[in-house]
Amino acid sequence: MFTAKVIEVKAPAKVNLFLEVVGKRPDGYHDLESIVQAVSIYDEVSVSLDASGASTLECNIKALETPQNLALRAASAFKEAAGLSAGVHIRLEKVIPIQGGLGGGSSDAAAVLLALNDLAGLPLDAGRLLKVAAGLGSDVPFFIKGGTALVTGRGEHVDTFRPGAFFHFVVFFPGFGISTAEVYKNLTLKLTENRRNAKVLRELLTGGNLPTAQECFFNRLEETAYELDRRLGQAKAAMQARVGDSRIVLCGSGASLFSAFVDYDTAYGAYRAVKGLRQGEVFLANGIRGE
Ligand code: C5P
Repeated sequence: MFTAKVIEVKAPAKVNLFLEVVGKRPDGYHDLESIVQAVSIYDEVSVSLDASGASTLECNIKALETPQNLALRAASAFKEAAGLSAGVHIRLEKVIPIQGGLGGGSSDAAAVLLALNDLAGLPLDAGRLLKVAAGLGSDVPFFIKGGTALVTGRGEHVDTFRPGAFFHFVVFFPGFGISTAEVYKNLTLKLTENRRNAKVLRELLTGGNLPTAQECFFNRLEETAYELDRRLGQAKAAMQARVGDSRIVLCGSGASLFSAFVDYDTAYGAYRAVKGLRQGEVFLANGIRGE
């Protein structure tokens, strides 16, 4: 009944080019307005069906082989939604730093959902797949679509668009993580604060006007994250000393930081310079297209 078919997927990371917190919801989550860009830093996810009915996870980081792993939870959520009785075997090769604000766990979960839908003969349409994704975590629906998107609500509304050009990114994971829940818990939304909106940035990206687009990068979580962990400020200062006057932005709720570049050579020079810090992990990546 089961073929030994294995689906291998590359699960990309993301950066938030823009992240505004619009308000607190009655369910404790926050409504967001965010422009999210998938980038070429990848985990490798292999998924196959298992006739024994058991679901298992094998990972290059042994500490992640737990039932709480979002990839395994994605498998059970899919099985329930699609009425699938087979077990699922997942092999995960992690490259994306953990708790780095780069969406690695969410991307792995989305990759599992997409692979299982393929293996099971597409029982879930796009809408149901997005719903299952949203039940797993706020960043998972974005990764079902990928590419570049305006993400709103808690993260469940994903409106993809095609930028006219892509940035190169230097992404610096400083070697420690920050808890997303802690950042949101400590966030104080001041009513007097000037709320930003993503409209201008979206238009500039669509038009391929990268130099001006860069000036609209924004992350509302930054201030809170820097207050929560002093090491973040030190990491930013160290990175800034290496990337000249290039702007540094926090990835999601941190602790990774990124700088964006229009041309590859400048990005490569900055990448080499940040690598010279010999701290954490440094990636040279570019924005990637979605579906
Ligand atoms: O949904 P996810 O598990 O990724 O979110 C982690 C934590 O971040 C949540 O428990 C919540 O405290 C916070 N969060 C939020 N509003 C969002 C996304 C996340 O308050 N839109």
